[in-house]
Amino acid sequence: MQDQVWQLEWNDKLSVGIDDIDVEHRHFIELINGLNRAILDRMDISEIRRRMQLILDDAAQHFAHEEALFAAWHYPDADEHAKYHRQATAAFQEIMARLSDKHTESEWIEAGLKVKQLLVEHLITEDMKYRDYFKAHKQAAAS
Ligand SMILES: [Fe+2]
Ligand SMILES: [Fe+2]
Repeated sequence: MQDQVWQLEWNDKLSVGIDDIDVEHRHFIELINGLNRAILDRMDISEIRRRMQLILDDAAQHFAHEEALFAAWHYPDADEHAKYHRQATAAFQEIMARLSDKHTESEWIEAGLKVKQLLVEHLITEDMKYRDYFKAHKQAAAS
């Protein structure tokens, strides 16, 4: 299978226009690429779990950071967005709980792809909504 299928790449369209958050999103993408790399290279289960745990820890910090910004902006969709964060967290935790050495290769691959898909969907659908709000808000504040 081709490597490109496994690796997410950052591009400017993914920018939310907030440097700190872009840095976190880039880091998150790197961690997910690292997880998929470990699965693809059939690394030890302990290494795969370690990389999945890094994603969980990073997601918790990143989601809390976004929610703190929403509170500061009085972002109207904050509750809705936080709900998606909780759903993504639960999905990551479930995947982590199910990762065991009993898995077949295709189950590993499926788990890695699911993590990637969850992140991409959240970034493209939910995070882009606050990007637009933030842009409009900043312009209104400046005028
Ligand atoms: Fe988010
Ligand atoms: Fe995000």
